Amino acid sequence: MSTHHLGRSVFGDPKNTGNLMSLEEAHQLLADWVPNERLRLHMKQVAAVMKAWAIEKENADEIKALKWELAGLLHDADWEKYPDDHCRIIIEELERRDMDPELIHCIASHGPSYFGVEPENSMDKMIYAFDELSGFIHAAALIRPARYEGMDVKSVLKKLKTPSFAAQVNRNDITDALSGIDVSLEELIQFIIVHQKEIL
Ligand SMILES: [Fe+2]
Repeated sequence: MSTHHLGRSVFGDPKNTGNLMSLEEAHQLLADWVPNERLRLHMKQVAAVMKAWAIEKENADEIKALKWELAGLLHDADWEKYPDDHCRIIIEELERRDMDPELIHCIASHGPSYFGVEPENSMDKMIYAFDELSGFIHAAALIRPARYEGMDVKSVLKKLKTPSFAAQVNRNDITDALSGIDVSLEELIQFIIVHQKEIL
């Protein structure tokens, strides 16, 4: 993916804090915008781990958990139809819909080297950490007959060190994202294996 620096660092309007769409609306947006089933699955998987992390590690209430889930669900919504304007289009759509500024900032910062927006709060940092790793672990599951069942962290670590495996997954992004959080790579992998295995 080439870089699509957004050229801005403030997103949404503070007066819209707390405005979130429903999960039904988010799924409708995906149905309208994302014909590619694999890309929809990727977003659902990132949404599942984001929601689970918010609840388990961030003590999130229902609204906060929904915000984390929506960020995962929508972060690549414009990738398929607008590859050259990826991120800008979904951001503008969410601004048009008066969505919560934190939700929009989270999506804007999910790939700092591409979009030029640094992750700030823990939601930003976790979507960045989960994004590539989630796709990588799904690729690892797809080549195992038992899929996620019995998958261990060591085998994922080994594949990460094999550049030819899921070569499109940017290992530098994973390392960079981890440098911004107080979570080990092993813990993150284990969390993803557990929480995205049912999202197929
Ligand atoms: Fe993604």
